[in-house]
Amino acid sequence: MTTPDPLLFQPLKLRDLELKNRIVISPMCQHAAEAGRATPWHMVHLGKFALGGAALILTESTAVDPRGRIGTADLGLWDDSQIEPLKSVVDFVHANDGAIGVQLAHAGRKSGSQPLWEGGAALTDEVMQSDAEPWQRLGPSALAAGPGWSAPRAMNAQEIEEVIQRFVDATVRADKAGFDVVELHFGHGYLVASFLSPNSNHRKDEWGGDLNGRMRLALEVASRVRDAWPAGKPLFARLSAVDGSVDGWSLDDSVVLARELAQLGVDVIDCSSGGLTEETRALPVPRGLGFQVPFSERIRHDANVPTQAVGMIVDASQAEAVLQEGKADLIALGREALFDPYWAHHAATTLGVDPKYQRWPVRHGVWLAKRAPGLARARAQAAEQLVSPSN
Ligand SMILES: Cc1cc2nc3c(=O)[nH]c(=O)nc-3n(C[C@H](O)[C@H](O)[C@H](O)COP(=O)(O)O)c2cc1C
Repeated sequence: MTTPDPLLFQPLKLRDLELKNRIVISPMCQHAAEAGRATPWHMVHLGKFALGGAALILTESTAVDPRGRIGTADLGLWDDSQIEPLKSVVDFVHANDGAIGVQLAHAGRKSGSQPLWEGGAALTDEVMQSDAEPWQRLGPSALAAGPGWSAPRAMNAQEIEEVIQRFVDATVRADKAGFDVVELHFGHGYLVASFLSPNSNHRKDEWGGDLNGRMRLALEVASRVRDAWPAGKPLFARLSAVDGSVDGWSLDDSVVLARELAQLGVDVIDCSSGGLTEETRALPVPRGLGFQVPFSERIRHDANVPTQAVGMIVDASQAEAVLQEGKADLIALGREALFDPYWAHHAATTLGVDPKYQRWPVRHGVWLAKRAPGLARARAQAAEQLVSPSN
């Protein structure tokens, strides 16, 4: 009798897409695109995760509008010329047994910042105006994201409609590039998140006010993108389950939103947190192991929608426990995947499901299978010599 694979290595069917296991690479900005177009960096960065055995690889935040870039070198899908370079990456991932999704985003009032290794500060309005794609921050209300950030211009109804259309146009391009999944970035204080929170959205019109008004942009984007995205392909949405600001967007609000998103055809809620404000008075979520798993658990149970857990999930046994305890359907890795791009294969070894390295790319696995017994023998000999050095 064979024992079933651990949950981490059981497939998951989402619409027509079958993920081979539950391991997802979380979106990670690289600041390496040229005019929004993917470069060889993206091929190697994303491609290595396919070789590393993750079922689904999500791209970094990919701008639907040049005015919605987090930094000047973000990936984009605001222009047809950006399809082909991404398609090469998609093709590579597909050829190596992986699925790939694009995270579509508009950074709103948090657009225009330096990469972390340059300090991560907000770009000045002068720098943004002198960029090849001159731009200005946009938001629901003219409220800055924090000290050092210029206030965004409050968007009018026509600009809101244009942004929704840009999400739709980018979705059509994502399909042409061959992506399997679109993830809508509704978290981290970017445009849609800034409409959700009462702390950044002071509008009195139908795009603000009560919870329904503040959720309207998220629901419009999700609904219009769902219509434009093939029915067989899954749609994810990343939320900041709590936005990290005092009296801001709450977990209860996230449950309501998740339920409505699911009704519109969103298949997975990716449960992140924080990012609304750079205010030092804001309430950070303490960052222990699996610190956002409780958000995933609550949303999965109370909104009755599949979820993706993320945040300081580092060990195979920890990931397996999250799934076994019914707290998530998918496990996303960010920094741990940077540390170990082969995390999925190593987790398979740890959990005892791949003793012969058959899940590795065949070009590697065949050598690792040959190496294993010889390595075990060599280690045993070395240990023996340590015990009896005179022999
Ligand atoms: C280098 C880097 C870039 C990131 N860029 C994005 C991004 O583009 N979009 C996003 O939603 N989250 C982004 N994140 C957050 C990660 O997706 C993830 O949620 C976070 O790092 C927590 O998971 P971890 O503890 O496994 O790293 C980024 C994280 C890192 C480390």
